[in-house]
Amino acid sequence: MVSIESVKESPFEIPVKIIFVPRGKESVLGVAIEGEGDGFTVKDGRIIYAIAIDGESPDDIRRFAARCIRIAREYRLDSIYIIPPSAENDTYFFLSEGIELSAYAFDKYLSNKPFRPKRVYIHSDDPNGVYPYIRKGVHFSEATNFARNLVNEPPNSIYPETLRDVAIELSRDDTLFDIEVLDSEKMKRLGMNAILYVARGSVHDPYFVHLSYKPEKTKGKIALVGKAVTFDSGGLNLKTYDGMKTMKMDMAGSAAILGVMKALSFFKPDVEVHAFFAAVENMPDGNAYKPGDIVRAYNGKTIEVLNTDAEGRLTLADVLSFVSKHHSNVDYVVDLATLTGSIMVALGPYTAGLFTENEHLREAILTNGQMEGERFWHMPFDKRLGEKMKSKVADLRNTAEMRWGGAISAAMFLRNFVDFPERWAHIDIAGPAFTVEDVDYNPPGGTGFGVRTLLRWLLSF
Ligand code: BES
Ligand code: ZN
Ligand code: ZN
Repeated sequence: MVSIESVKESPFEIPVKIIFVPRGKESVLGVAIEGEGDGFTVKDGRIIYAIAIDGESPDDIRRFAARCIRIAREYRLDSIYIIPPSAENDTYFFLSEGIELSAYAFDKYLSNKPFRPKRVYIHSDDPNGVYPYIRKGVHFSEATNFARNLVNEPPNSIYPETLRDVAIELSRDDTLFDIEVLDSEKMKRLGMNAILYVARGSVHDPYFVHLSYKPEKTKGKIALVGKAVTFDSGGLNLKTYDGMKTMKMDMAGSAAILGVMKALSFFKPDVEVHAFFAAVENMPDGNAYKPGDIVRAYNGKTIEVLNTDAEGRLTLADVLSFVSKHHSNVDYVVDLATLTGSIMVALGPYTAGLFTENEHLREAILTNGQMEGERFWHMPFDKRLGEKMKSKVADLRNTAEMRWGGAISAAMFLRNFVDFPERWAHIDIAGPAFTVEDVDYNPPGGTGFGVRTLLRWLLSF
């Protein structure tokens, strides 16, 4: 992470400046930079840049910060001095988010690490007053970067055991955390067969993990569920080269909820939060589950497996049934899952599909998402598509005969495992969880999508 400080005056002796001119704005934004980097020459000790920004929305400010970091990288500047677009407290929050998110790089496996700026000074007339907002931004980004790291780790490093260990490690951060882990023996006894079936082709045993945060004072109870397929090869319905190459990201839902949990030990909000995931690897093998298999999920419903690549919904079926049975007193249950390619056909790669019939929950996610620069679009439940998920030989089938509306039929499938759908939101993050291109403050790889929206929501309790 970059170290961020608020200061009254530029700490640098060399008066090198980059001036940002906001489009259609009178005020001038300035960045002073220190030192000389490769290929960087100081003319008269002063360099003027004029770069326009689009406005002062939270995301405009994050993007502005990202451009400052880009310039620091380009000129190999250890430290930069930023004069923010406005003196509002939240500007410092958005700026520090933008700085930490764009300065992130997953370089632990690189022998030659790319240059990273180390310090950012942000101007303020009241450095102490704005500091808490900077700190908040740093913790929001740290949680996001934590999730990004988990997604970016290769599948030979993050597999069910190690993902379980990440949660166990996290639970030691704070006495307000508790952890419950079920191994395959335990799941067998309990009848969590859908999880076990998906895991059958893998050499890695599956684990069910329940990490909880219980503050002394609590104004509510929230369950967060994350899809945690540490690698999705498709199983016997093997994916193609193109389809498989990014499938280490199929645990991004669980990474996001772990990122949220990590930040709770810092913010300590007055709300009980329970995170659940079933860590599995989906592989083809002599012992793998097969198209045609019928499996009985934790809530007793039978599922005909028609496609072993529709594995996420199987694991989620057991987890959602578990939450329904043992935590029916939650105010809300929200699941995050890289569930379908179909949601990307519908919304593109930058937007998550939000399925919920709860207006309050919908508004909470949409408005917090808007503030955090995470895009959600409300999607419909469709009973007629739900009908297509019925099997002739079992209660349900895991894929519809028809491929149209695949993200919706997946949501309709999950609905069969939630006992209180009026308090539930399903979020299909297959698109925005991972990016192959550099987008604003998201470098290629895992984006940590969902962390900041959920965090902002939980802090509003
Ligand atoms: N993990 C994939 C969905 C996915 C695709 C996530 C692309 C991110 C990027 C999921 O398990 C899957 O394979 N879904 C199938 C479902 C189909 C077999 C009904 C899909 O979307 O093709
Ligand atoms: Zn799949
Ligand atoms: Zn998957």
